[in-house]
Amino acid sequence: MLILENANLQKFNTFGIDCYANRLFHLEEEKDIVEYHRHPLGYRKQQLLLGGGSNILLCSELNGSVARIEWKGITIIDETSNDLIVKVAAGENWHEFVLWALKNDLGGIENLSLIPGQVGTSPIQNIGAYGVEIKDCIKSLRYYRWNTGKIEIIDNNICDFGYRTSIFKTKWVNEGVILSVNFRLTKKNHVLNTSYGPITEELSRMEKLPSISSISKAIVNIRISKLPDPSKLGNSGSFFKNPIIKKSLLLKMQEKNPKIPFHDQKSGKVKLSAGWLIEMSGWKGKRNGDAGMHENQALVLVNYGKASGKDLLEVANLVKKDVLTCFDIKLEHEVNIIGIE
Ligand code: EPU
Repeated sequence: MLILENANLQKFNTFGIDCYANRLFHLEEEKDIVEYHRHPLGYRKQQLLLGGGSNILLCSELNGSVARIEWKGITIIDETSNDLIVKVAAGENWHEFVLWALKNDLGGIENLSLIPGQVGTSPIQNIGAYGVEIKDCIKSLRYYRWNTGKIEIIDNNICDFGYRTSIFKTKWVNEGVILSVNFRLTKKNHVLNTSYGPITEELSRMEKLPSISSISKAIVNIRISKLPDPSKLGNSGSFFKNPIIKKSLLLKMQEKNPKIPFHDQKSGKVKLSAGWLIEMSGWKGKRNGDAGMHENQALVLVNYGKASGKDLLEVANLVKKDVLTCFDIKLEHEVNIIGIE
C-alpha cells in the first residue's frame, strides 16, 4: 500500500478535473483494504473510494483521504459443460477484461466493449450498453463490509439490479467495498445480441457475420464514432439517465412531438432518450466556456480543457432546467457528484 500526501487526482478521474486530496491511499493488493480500514488516517464513513474514476464529478478539493482500488487478477474458479465462472479482481480495467474474454472465446460481455471504468464498479452501476446489462452475467461477488470487517459472498439476486442501479447505490451506499466479481461466461452456444439497431448495420458495413468478436469490434467502431475518448476529451459517458415515464405521459408528449424516440419497457412504462431531449432543448454541441454537451452525443458532458467540477455541474444544471422547461421532464444524473450535497 502506498500513501501519497497532497495528491493530485487529475489522472484518476476521466473528466480530467484538476483537484487535490490531502492523502491518497493506493490499495495495490486486496489485503490492503484491511490495512486502510485500520489505519488512523485511513477509512472514514462516506470517504471517496476511487475505481476507474469514470463515473464521478469532483466538485471540490477533498479534505481527508481518498483510496484507490488497484488490485488485479483473473482466475477461473468453476466450469460446467457450457459455462465458465471467472473471478475478476475489482481493480481490473473493464475493457481489458472484455478483451481477455474474447481472447479465450468466452461470451456474454462483448456488447459491453470499451466501457470505461473498472470491474469492481461495474455491478454498482449495473453497466449496460447495446441491449445488454452486466447483471445478466454476474453470478455473485465478494464484499468487504466496513462495520464488521468481514468478507461476504453476495449472490446476484441480492443485488437489486435495475437500470443503472443496484443495492450498492441505494440501501448499501457507503456500507462496504466490492473486492471481486464472479462472472458466468459462455464457452459455447454463445447468445449473440444484435437487436440494437446500429449493430447489424455496422456488421454489414464490416461484411462480418455476428460472432462475439465481430460484435465487439462493431460496438468499438460505433462507440468511437459517437463517444469522445476520455483520454483526449474529459467526460464520463452518459451524464444523465434515460428517463422512464408512464405511457400516458408519452401520448401527451407525442401531440406536440410526434417524432419523440422511445423504447417500451417490460413494466409497461417507456424509456425516452435523454440525448434527444437535450438535443431538442438546444444543448447538443453547446458550450459554456470549457464545459459543454458533446457535438455527436448530447448526453455526454465534456470538459474541453480547464473546466472545474463546478463549471461542469453548472452546465448540467442548465441542461436540466431547459429540459424541464421544454418537456416537463426532470433528468436525473447517472454520474456521482462528489463534494456537493
Ligand atoms: N439521441 C439524439 N441525440 C443525441 C443522442 C441521442 O437524438 O445527441 C437519440 C437518438 O434517437 C438515438 C437515441 O437517442 O437513436 C439513442 O442514442 P444512443 O444509441 O447513443 O444511446 P443512449 O440512449 O443515448 C444509452 C446508454 C449508453 C450506451 C448506449 C448504447 C444510458 C444513460 N446511456 O445511451 O451508455 O452506450 O445507450 O446502448 O443509458 C453510459 O452509460 O455512460 C453510456 C455511454
